[in-house]
Amino acid sequence: MAGDEQYERYRRALAGERLPAALVDLDALDANVDRLVAPIRAAGKRLRVATKSLRCPELIDHVLERAGQTAIGLMTYSAAETAWLAERGARDLLLAYPTLRDADLVAAANRHATAAIAIDAAEHVEVLAAAAARAGATVPVVIDVDMSYRPLGRGPHLGVRRSPLRSADDVVALARAIAGRAGLRFHGVLGYEAQIAGLGDAAPAQRAQNAVVRAIKARSAPHVLALRRASVDAHAAAGLAPTIVNGGGTGSAAWSARDPALTEVTVGSGFLASGLFDDYRGLLLEPAAGFALEVVRRPAPDIYTCLGGGFVASGAPAPDRLPRPWLPAGFTLLGTEGAGEVQTPIRTRRDLALGDPVLFRHAKAGELAEHVREYLVIRGDRVVSRAATYRGLGHCFLG
Ligand SMILES: Cc1ncc(COP(=O)(O)O)c(C=O)c1O
Repeated sequence: MAGDEQYERYRRALAGERLPAALVDLDALDANVDRLVAPIRAAGKRLRVATKSLRCPELIDHVLERAGQTAIGLMTYSAAETAWLAERGARDLLLAYPTLRDADLVAAANRHATAAIAIDAAEHVEVLAAAAARAGATVPVVIDVDMSYRPLGRGPHLGVRRSPLRSADDVVALARAIAGRAGLRFHGVLGYEAQIAGLGDAAPAQRAQNAVVRAIKARSAPHVLALRRASVDAHAAAGLAPTIVNGGGTGSAAWSARDPALTEVTVGSGFLASGLFDDYRGLLLEPAAGFALEVVRRPAPDIYTCLGGGFVASGAPAPDRLPRPWLPAGFTLLGTEGAGEVQTPIRTRRDLALGDPVLFRHAKAGELAEHVREYLVIRGDRVVSRAATYRGLGHCFLG
């Protein structure tokens, strides 16, 4: 059966391991890095690695090394994480989510590295300028532009809710405010097109919804390109040419790489190819991370109960947030129970023994690392290293 050889490999690797355990397949990870980086490199752009989608220093370092000169640095998700990574030796960081309470940590990170922060409001500027003064540092500031699509400028908001800045004029006005503040330096523009990068358009059994998502992507693409271009041009005209212009994500990496306005493209989830990224047209990635549960009971001939498993993803609650059955191929979750707090029943016609591992994939790439202390890093059928996650190192950066 499809996947049997892979299941047997992982089964051999996991023999003697305590379960639940999370694993990363290095060959698959390397293949994904090569595939995602190729169009960025070919377009002469740089890669920024989204740490939220890895949350494991060894894996972050591995991706950076494999991407070589194409990698410019890291996109981080919390100020404490940014400061910690800067102390650990990271040289180029962009915290892509604003903070007011932790502005001091961002300023402090600039003692060791270029640690920029994305912002979108006058309040952010005030707090950051005060933090920069306290730290005696200069903080590079990036302005986050809302890339969502609103047909006819009104109507439904197609995209995520991040920045209120929707025009090049809005952005330049804030850039001027930043440039006029001691301790702050205008560094660039962030325009993340979530409705293209982060929405699956090839989900099985959702043909109608896929068609709608494809239409949204096709219509919003010209808007994204035009707004990013206009922002860059308006800054240049104001004498504030951006050092970096960041956009893209796993689901749009190849497309974003061809946007002349961007200097760099962010990718994170695609390296591990978490479950939600199965549902993108034309995105060919190999599942590179998962978690194994132990089969502990057989309450019916075709039902097995596994220990643990309730690793449900963030986002709007829906079945696609559940762990995806992976190996051995062909098992399903039970609609009545899903992935449970302590036990997860599965249905399969295969004959499994009590104690066997059953593998799932998390819907999102980074969140699995919040449930485990380490990834078992596998090559072939062997565990070649144990990579501590942020959690395993004692960090809980957004909690
Ligand atoms: C600012 C920004 N850029 C890029 C991404 C894409 O990350 P990934 O490749 O993990 O989907 C995200 C994801 O939320 C993001 O917030």
